[in-house]
Formats: sequence, C-alpha cells, structure tokens
Amino acid sequence: MTATFDALWAELAPIGRNRTTGGYQRLSWSPADSAVRSWFAQAAAARGLDVRPDRNGNLWAWWGEPGPGAVVTGSHLDSVPEGGAFDGPLGVVGALAAVDELRRRGVRPRRPLAVVVFVEEEGGRFGVPCLGSRLLTGAITPERASALTDTDGTTWARAMEKAGLDPDRMGADPDLAGRISAFLELHIEQGRGLVHTGQPVGVASTVWPHGRWRMEFSGRADHAGTTQLGDRHDPMLPLAHTVIAARSVAEARGAVATVGKMVAKPNCTNAVPSKARAWLDARAPDEATLRAVVDAVDAEARRYAVEHGVFLASFQESSTPVVRFEHELRDRIAAIAGGTDGPAPVLATGAGHDAGVLAAVVPTAMLFVRNPTGISHAPEEYAEPSDCHAGTAVLTNVLADLLSE
Ligand code: GLV
Ligand code: MN
Ligand code: MN
Ligand code: MN
Repeated sequence: MTATFDALWAELAPIGRNRTTGGYQRLSWSPADSAVRSWFAQAAAARGLDVRPDRNGNLWAWWGEPGPGAVVTGSHLDSVPEGGAFDGPLGVVGALAAVDELRRRGVRPRRPLAVVVFVEEEGGRFGVPCLGSRLLTGAITPERASALTDTDGTTWARAMEKAGLDPDRMGADPDLAGRISAFLELHIEQGRGLVHTGQPVGVASTVWPHGRWRMEFSGRADHAGTTQLGDRHDPMLPLAHTVIAARSVAEARGAVATVGKMVAKPNCTNAVPSKARAWLDARAPDEATLRAVVDAVDAEARRYAVEHGVFLASFQESSTPVVRFEHELRDRIAAIAGGTDGPAPVLATGAGHDAGVLAAVVPTAMLFVRNPTGISHAPEEYAEPSDCHAGTAVLTNVLADLLSE
C-alpha cells in the first residue's frame, strides 16, 4: 500500500504546481484541473474501476455495479490559488491506494465501492465551495450554480460545457445520492489538533458553521493628486475599517473572520477608486455566534460607509450550517483507527468539506492526518509520508469493515 500511495502521489504532484513557489493552481475546469481529472480517470481505470462523471461533473470510479448500499470514499483535486499539495489529493490518492490494498488482501466487497472526486470543492474559481457535492445533494439549485461567474465572466454552465458536460443535466441526483450507504473522506488536518495529541490520525466530530459574504462599497472615482481629502467618496476607507472590525468582532466572540480577497475599481494607483469589493469568510463554533459576528461586521461596515459618503451593498454567497458527523460511524471509525491505547482522537474543524455537505443526506465520517505546522491553503501545507500511509491504512481498514456487512 505504501508503494502504491507513493507512486500515485509522485504522478500527481507535478500537475499544476508552480515550480518557483511550490504552490498549486488547480482551479476547476482549468487545464491543470482537466489534467488531474484525466490522471484520476486513468489511475482508476488501470485498477479496473469503471469511471464516469455524474451530471454535475463529479467523477465516480466504481468497483462493482453502481448499485444501492455503496460505500463511497474520496475528496477533491481542485485547489485554492497557490494552495498546498495535500488538501484534497490526500483523500483521492489514499482512496486509490486503499483499493489496491483491499485487492491485495483478497477482500471481496459485499457492497459496491466507489471512489469519488468532487468538483469545485474550494470555490476557488466560482465562489461557492463544495459546489459539486451541493449540486448532487440539492443544496444549491442548478439555476443558481449555472449563473455563478469567475473573474473573467465565464459562467459555471459555460465552463462545464467547454469541458464536455451538458449543463442542462446539472442538478440534484437523488438516485445517485440514494445509493450511498456511507461516505468517508480522508483529509489533511488544517490545524494543529493532532499535533497536540501526538497521534498521526484522528476522526472529525463537527465542522463549524461558516459562510462567505461579498461587500461592495461604491464611491466616486477621482484624481489622487488634486481631490481634497474632505471632498472624496473613497470606498477603500470603509473597506479598510471593515477588515479591522472583522478581526476584533471575531476575536471578541471566539470566532474567526477573514478578508482574503478584494478588488478595487478601476484598480489604478493615481485614482481614488470608484468601487471596492471584499469578501468576508466567517466561521464560528455555533450558528448563533456566526450570525452575531456577521451582523456586527455588517453594522460596522455600514457605519463606516456612511461616514465616508459611500454606498454599501452586501450579499451572502454561500452558507454551510454546523455539521455533526454521525456518532455511531464516528465512534466505530475511532475504534478502528485507535491502537491498544484506546480510540483515535476526535476533533472539530473550522474547514469546510464535501463530507460536511454529504453528511446532511448520508452517514458520513472524516479521517484527519496530522499536519505538523497546521498550515493549509498555502504551499507550506505538509504531512509526513508515514502519517499519510497511516491515514491510508486506517481508511483501508474502515472500508474493509464497512464492505464486509
Ligand atoms: C475549504 O477548504 C474551506 O474550508 O474554505
Ligand atoms: Mn479539502
Ligand atoms: Mn481547502
Ligand atoms: Mn475544504
């Protein structure tokens, strides 16, 4: 299993990697994304799996007839801009290596097994994370998904069409979702929880509720040299105040808030901008706190907008309610993952995952692999090969257990 994991990892690693920074750029439907999808299709076919896209562009590789009661595992291959190597790929490579190991052990599955690659998990190109799994489960309508646009104005529907899929078929697929008896996602931990436990592998308990909000500050473009400060309607000023307010509002409530993306118009050094757009990502341990954080940030943004004679419009772009993974499956997996000293650690996470979306409709669990620095969504994201192997071994054992009944 170790050798297969390493061989698959080595094949996948160069695709979409920036050789200077080591970061990955695998935005959905980009040439790099198409290359990793083709890599997956070939690697799965080489294992005798039957590979097919679903109507939303997620890729499924079946061992056995895609019938009811299937055990499904997998993750995603898209990345954030300048992302790390592990977020997503670990769960896909681990799943393929687990299939090899199950075969090597002579396991004869009593139910179908599928390895899935979800599309646009990061929302890195079209703004809504977990878009493929949301479409599959009906958590977003095809009308709304179709109209999402990237920064060049390409719609999701058009990008899908260019990739050879029929956007008219997009939408909830209760037949496919209804065939899943359990979904498991192996993933790098995106914090330092496991480092503190000293264990290489843990099991997810909950995902913090989270969402994305777009704030559009509209002012008036003007000359940077001749316009008196008091005469300006500069949208950058309330935006800047809002960034600082988001930090202190979140800090005061035990939440996190980030403004990681902004665009100014006309984006010109010597003009006061006419518009400044920023995206707020907010996450909290519970929904009431999240709501309070977002309301407080919005109130501050409005206050500053008025102060600077600027108009503010805000829009919620995505929302993910709190996820509590099923206790029975979680405890069963923690027991399998643990050693003689007892069950594996169980941890909450602030990161979003397709598993969180699937959890609303099928029994779902997640396995985390230790990340020594906790860094993620950055080139420094890392897991030791031995920890990746340990996570894959646990995944294999859990799959063997689920496939035996
Ligand atoms: C996706 O990885 C997210 O948590 O934003
Ligand atoms: Mn991920
Ligand atoms: Mn991610
Ligand atoms: Mn994610």
